[in-house]
Parts: sequence; structure tokens; C-alpha cells
Amino acid sequence: MRKEIDFLVIGSGIAGLTYALKVANYGKVAVVSKAFADETSTKYAQGGIATVMYSPDSYKKHIEDTLVAGAGLCDREVVEMVVSEGRDRIEELIAWGTDFDRENDGNYALGREGGHSENRILHHKDTTGKEIIRALLKRAKNHSNIELFEGYFAIDLITQHHLGKKVTRHDKDITCFGAYILNPQLNKIDTILSKITMLATGGSGNVYRTTTNPVVATGDGIAMAYRAKAVVENMEFIQFHPTSLYNPGEKPSFLITEALRGFGGILRNHKGEKFMHKYDDRLELAPRDIVTRAIDTEMKKQGRSHVFLDCTHLNPNELISEFPGIYAKCLSIGIDIRNDMIPVVPAAHYTCGGINVNKYGQTTVSNLYASGECSSTGLHGANRLASNSLLEAIVYSHRAAQKSIQLFRNIEFKREVPDWDDTGLILNEELILITQTQRELQNIMSSYVSIVRSDLRLQRALDRLQLIYKETEDLYKKSILNRELCVLRNLINVSYLIVKMAINRKESVGLHYSIDYPKIK
Ligand code: FAD
Ligand code: SIN
Repeated sequence: MRKEIDFLVIGSGIAGLTYALKVANYGKVAVVSKAFADETSTKYAQGGIATVMYSPDSYKKHIEDTLVAGAGLCDREVVEMVVSEGRDRIEELIAWGTDFDRENDGNYALGREGGHSENRILHHKDTTGKEIIRALLKRAKNHSNIELFEGYFAIDLITQHHLGKKVTRHDKDITCFGAYILNPQLNKIDTILSKITMLATGGSGNVYRTTTNPVVATGDGIAMAYRAKAVVENMEFIQFHPTSLYNPGEKPSFLITEALRGFGGILRNHKGEKFMHKYDDRLELAPRDIVTRAIDTEMKKQGRSHVFLDCTHLNPNELISEFPGIYAKCLSIGIDIRNDMIPVVPAAHYTCGGINVNKYGQTTVSNLYASGECSSTGLHGANRLASNSLLEAIVYSHRAAQKSIQLFRNIEFKREVPDWDDTGLILNEELILITQTQRELQNIMSSYVSIVRSDLRLQRALDRLQLIYKETEDLYKKSILNRELCVLRNLINVSYLIVKMAINRKESVGLHYSIDYPKIK
């Protein structure tokens, strides 16, 4: 099938939907998602969305907290822009039907998370993301200019490369004409020509064995953009959340929100001892990279696979009313958080780097935009401050929408783009070739490119990745495409970018911590 559409949006999380809702008042929009439209990282967000609401909080404090967490690598202008524009964007989310919790006096209830010097996290109990995606999807489904394509898998962006021109990373005039998308109804590859393409494909937690990210988070947008020769950066900064529920075998790992530590939860080791005072004066509410490394160190010292989050001293009624999702989840595996400590372990959680964009979400490829977790805006630097990502997505999708509306009428569809050609290729029926390689990849990344790194471990990872890259590219060239193979290829591309950028960074900073380099911040 061939289709022409003004705006092609790949991804139906907060970044994709807020962009779609804005541009849809000006042209036709297709939103594609590789699973059901609500199956996104957005849906799993617990803690909430950071913004300055009331005094004594101020933009200045939020900006400062973001810069401190980012360990010197944030772009100050971007931080100032996101923090100061965020409030208006949140008002829009509310106007579009999102419900955030309020206190008895009518003011919004504000939670606290690591690295924040004030309470500033708007939330809906401990299921904020589910509430946001509910409201956005309802609105998108009712918009006559938005068509949702669920289960459609974007394979590659279309550029001059598909017109037979050799495109290199140094070319200045690369343009995106749309994308090739696997149509699940026909099991064929559709050609979608678009004036503007927005990548809102989320993160890449599934390059690791253990992650809080849903299975859709395989870095597809980052890999597609990289193959289209867009600039990708800062991929070494993978954030591990300090506290996911230790429940071996469960995928994705269930998150125990940082807001629970903000509410008074205390970390303890297997001897029942508090330990955060040994690592940082901010204790349980130090930035995530610090808490994660502290837990990692305690686990290694005691030869254990987890530590505990103790909430047993907190008011039990308030605990259940503020964190009903966590209470129910833990109870389902026999842990009553009012009386039992919660076993927790760090898990891969957030991709701080990604596709380089300017302040309007424009990538280095013309007519290609990116927003949300797949993008790299300069906001997070070497470590994202908790609950700043939903905020970043709404600010950037708004700015990208403004720019797109201004430009799209002067863009022509590139009708000479050929359809996907798979003549001569064979159907690969041995899925084991893919699933086993994916497990190998996740083991390599988890063993060698995790919370603590070294030059030797990174080099080992690179050597092993090169082997599976070659095997998988050979298979890709011979096979009729299927989703599993495309996902594996993307995971390998993204892992390569993480490892390569980690090797190139000759310092320990933020989330990139190497035993070979003295820590500077
Ligand atoms: P997502 O919401 O992940 O959406 C990605 C979309 O892209 C999906 O629709 C997917 O189907 C689609 N897609 C991907 N690849 C393809 C492809 N090849 N073809 C077609 N479609 C594709 N951040 C906060 O600020 N506050 C929080 O409290 C918070 N809590 C979190 C809790 C958890 C458990 C997790 C995992 C993350 C949390 N985060 C939080 C981070 C935040 O949720 C995400 O960064 C954010 O939701 C990402 O939004 P997004 O729109 O960029 O991507
Ligand atoms: C959490 O609720 O702890 C996650 C918040 C985030 O990732 O920003």
C-alpha cells in the first residue's frame, strides 16, 4: 500500500500524541504504534511530571536541580526553556482532560523525588502515566484528522538513499520523505510518504536483561535515525532506576517509584542497616546515579541480588492511599508493604541521549523531527532529573508542532520513492537465530556496559557485538523481513552506539561511571 500524509508520527506515547493533537488542526496525521496505542513507557510512568507550581519553589531552583543532576553536561539554555515553558504545557494536558491529585484546599498535591530541592511532582496516585495516556488517546481518537495505526512497525526512514544516491554522514542535505512500515494486516511493507515525519519512539531499555521499560522500548527510532545518517549523541548515559521490584523472571521489571522514597521510604541492606549516609548527604533523595551506585556497591559487598526499601514505619493508611498500585502489586506476590520490606534492585530505565535535535525538535535530517525519550535535547546532560522526561516531551512536541505547522505547506511529497522490494529474498523460519542472539546481546550489555564500567569490559562488549552485528546483517540481507529481525537489528545498532560512545568518553561523569577514570562530579 502507498499512502501520502502531511504528518507521519511514529509513536503514540506522550511525545507522539501531544504533537499529533497540535498539528492535526492543520493537516492529516497518521500515528503508528508497533503495539496497542496505549502500550508505551508513558503508560507506566508512576512518580509524575515535574513543574514549578507554588512558592517557595521557583524556576531558578528547578533549573539548578536539573543542572546539578546533569553533572555539568546539560545545555543551560535548554534547561531554562523547558522549565519555564513547562507550566503552560501542563495546563494544556489538564485542559485536555488529565486529572492530577489535589490537596483538600484545592491546590495540586506535589510529590518529591531524588535530586529535587522542593516538592514539585504533579501526579495521579502512583499511576500518572496511565492517566495521561488515557486522556491523550481519548482526544486523539476523537480527532477527525488523526488516524491511528496500531500494530504497524516502522522499519526504516526514507531518504535520498532509497532513490539510489549514496548518502554519507557528512552530507548536509539529507531529507526524510517518509517511512517504510510493516503492515500487520497484509504482512507487507507499506510506503508512507509524508511531508514531515516525527520520531516519538521512546527509549531502548530492552538492550538490557532487566529493565522497567515495556517490550516496545527497543530503540527503533534511534536506530532508524542513525541509519538515515542523523546525528545521535550521548548514548552512553543510560539511567538505571535504583528501585525496581526484585521479582526474578518478571518482564518488564515493576517500578517502585522514587516518590516512595520522597514519602519517607528508607533503603536497607540485608543486615537491616541503613546505608545511604555512607554515600551522599542527600541520603535516599540523592540523584539517581548516586543511589543506584550505592545500592550496587552494597549488593556486591554482601554478595546479594537485591536490597530493601523499608516503608513499615510510615502511616499505613496514607501509604495505601498514595501508592495503591505498588501496594496491590507487592501484595500479589505476598509482600504487604505496611509490614514487610520491599526487595528492590536497580534496572535499566531511561535513555538520556538519542537523536540530536535543536530547540524545535528538528533533527539534522531535513523534515525529520524527534521528541520524547528517543531525542537528545540537552536537557538531561549526563543524568536525567526524576520526572523531567514527561515535561521535556510536552515542551518539545509543542515547539516541534509550531515549526511543522509553519513549514509543511511548502514541502512536496517525493513521489518517485520506490516501494520496498523483497524479490529474491527467502523466508527465514528459524526464529531461534533471532531470539538466541537477542539474549546474547542483553547478556553482553548487562555484564559489560552496566552501572559500573571499565575500558576492558567495554572493549569486550564491542568485540562481541561486532560478531553478532555481522551475523545479523548477513541474515537481514538474505531474509524477507519480519518484526523480530528488525527489532534485533535495532537493538544491535543501539547497543553499538552505547558502547562506542562509552569508549570515547574518557572520564567518569554522571551515569557513565568507569573504574578507569577519576570521578570529576
Ligand atoms: P513512549 O511513551 O515509550 O512511546 C513510544 C511509542 O513508540 C509507542 O507507541 C511504540 O509503540 C512506538 N514505537 C516504537 N518503535 C516503533 C516502531 N518501530 N514502529 C512503530 N511504532 C514504534 N518519566 C517521568 O517524567 N516521570 C515518571 O514518573 C516516569 N516514570 C516512569 C516509569 C516507568 C516504569 C518507565 C518505564 C518510565 C518512566 N518515566 C517517567 C519515563 C517516561 O515515562 C518516558 O520517558 C516517556 O513516557 C517516553 O515517552 P515517549 O512518548 O517518548 O515514548
Ligand atoms: C519514578 O516514579 O521513580 C520514575 C520517575 C522518572 O523516571 O522520572
